[in-house]
Amino acid sequence: MDSLAQSLLASLDGLAADGRFRIRRDVERRLAGGVRVHVDGADLLAFCSNDYLGLADHPRVVEAFVTAARTWGVGSGASHLVSGHCREHRLLEEELAAFTGRARALLFSTGYMANLAVVTTLLGRGDRVFEDRLNHASLLDGGLASGARFSRFPHADVGTLAARLGRAGPARAMVVTDGVFSMDGDVAPLRELAAACRTHGAWLFVDDAHGLGVLGATGRGSVEAAGLGAGDVPILMGTLGKAFGTFGAFVAGSHELVETLLQTARTYVYTTALPPAVAAATRAALRVAQDEPWRRERVLHHVARFRHEATNFGLRLPDSATPIQPVVVGSEAAAVAGSDALRALGLWVPAIRPPTVPAGSSRLRITFSAAHEPADVDRLVEALAALAVSAPEAHAS
Ligand SMILES: Cc1ncc(COP(=O)(O)O)c(C=O)c1O
Repeated sequence: MDSLAQSLLASLDGLAADGRFRIRRDVERRLAGGVRVHVDGADLLAFCSNDYLGLADHPRVVEAFVTAARTWGVGSGASHLVSGHCREHRLLEEELAAFTGRARALLFSTGYMANLAVVTTLLGRGDRVFEDRLNHASLLDGGLASGARFSRFPHADVGTLAARLGRAGPARAMVVTDGVFSMDGDVAPLRELAAACRTHGAWLFVDDAHGLGVLGATGRGSVEAAGLGAGDVPILMGTLGKAFGTFGAFVAGSHELVETLLQTARTYVYTTALPPAVAAATRAALRVAQDEPWRRERVLHHVARFRHEATNFGLRLPDSATPIQPVVVGSEAAAVAGSDALRALGLWVPAIRPPTVPAGSSRLRITFSAAHEPADVDRLVEALAALAVSAPEAHAS
């Protein structure tokens, strides 16, 4: 074994010793909106997809994808600024801008790239960036890569944030938060964050990867649910691979914001454009999401049913009213054991461990979809009850 392999093996052994070694499972078949899957020779009921509205295999979305692939081919062939930007991209950007109530939107190939783009393009040395400590890794990486002075504030603690903003002086400042926290499911205190930003002249950037399509009276996300608009949240990021069931992401905001990202964001300029067929499929998904509001209502009903039944049998759950329902069990080993035991009962619920979540808060991360049946929710609750899965006091609400 060469010295590189030897050194890597030692690190990999360290991961395994810490209970943090991860494995991928090959999904052999995916049925019924992705909630019924065949994996490692077994049929499983899955509670681990972010396809909250069950749109990934919706006939209108699939048809739009196939028709566009026949018209445009599979790949876009070049970056947006060379020749990869097609009519489908332009129309989707216009429709996303209208949907989010912003002047313009700009497509990115992934949410990770969109988040890096926003923070590293708009901030640099001499600026300040304030991030919730539970923000998604891509937001934290953007903050670190930007060169701005980086400050992580305690989760949802607007008082501490406001005090730090007050001490920040005249530097340009951006406050960055998940709209819905991806591993906890709770919603950021957006009204309070917006007020603090207004008082201290900071820019508020909300990553609504998990809120868009699901929250708010019309599915426009956590910003709509908070009764806020573009004036309060000048920078909004949304992903397309979650409630819209496709792939990619966008940033929405003013003409000036979008033009700046388009001209200078390295993760926009130096990468191949999203396939036009993905843009076409997303346009269809955006229409279905609006034509079929029952999908949003259904997934939220599943959440309410789960919380009611789980609480009845004594499971303590953190405060989340979104399709992300974590059951915090503490150690890495407990999370893996819980996930394995559920899989033995035919249920797929992933174990989430550090560094994705803080040490000591490993968890089973349950996600619901409109593609689930009410009976699926009951089956999950019964399994959790049978296994006596329990959360340590510190993490229960
Ligand atoms: C809050 C949040 N932001 C950004 C991303 C990254 O989006 P993408 O998967 O499109 O890269 C994710 C998850 O993937 C997420 O949960």
